[in-house]
Amino acid sequence: MSKQRRKGFFLVFEGIDKCGKSTQIKLLAQRWRQKGLPVVLTREPGGTPLGENIRQLLLDARGDVSPEAELFLYEASRAHHVSRVIGPALRAGKIVLCDRFSLATLAYQAVGRGLPIKETAHLNTLAASGLVPDLTLVLDIPVKESVRRMAGTRDRMEAKTSFLQKVRAAYLCLAKTEPHIKVVNANRSLKEIHQNIFLIAENHPLLKARAPQGTNS
Ligand code: TMP
Repeated sequence: MSKQRRKGFFLVFEGIDKCGKSTQIKLLAQRWRQKGLPVVLTREPGGTPLGENIRQLLLDARGDVSPEAELFLYEASRAHHVSRVIGPALRAGKIVLCDRFSLATLAYQAVGRGLPIKETAHLNTLAASGLVPDLTLVLDIPVKESVRRMAGTRDRMEAKTSFLQKVRAAYLCLAKTEPHIKVVNANRSLKEIHQNIFLIAENHPLLKARAPQGTNS
């Protein structure tokens, strides 16, 4: 679905593990719902019964899944998610807040796991039926902080650190190439991050142009 034909607004949250995006996406959803805006909150992998099963497979198989198989599982979840949830919601004029989307596959599978970037981008386009977010917010924290927050999972820390360094560098680099991707400093208080996100999202020209205005804004 091209940006021109879309009626709703598609906002994606990204970042390395434990960057706080799931908390922040919920805070924004809550604030917009209180204003009466029609918000659909969803996530990848997941977002549909099939996608949630794929998520379970991916999380269970961690450590024993080939990078290629992993890539196709993320893309399968995405294809179904776009077809059944995101596409219909955008066509109905809703605001879709999605916890991760195609950018995660470029950062984690292509750069992190070393799969070819061009082919991965091509699969992303196919799985998403060409859908590109209106706005992607990358919540940025230092890798040291991400690793610190992974309490209780102290195994293979060195491997995790170097993997996350690649993923973080990929996010920061990709953010420079696409105007719809903005980096938010997420190494601050919850309140400060939320306010920063709220201002960026609320002032986005496409949100104002497309989404219905709230009943009590
Ligand atoms: P979450 O931490 O946002 O719940 O995501 C679960 C994991 O899935 C996280 O480690 C990042 C990973 N992931 C990918 O590797 N590629 C993808 O395309 C997506 C959507 C997630």
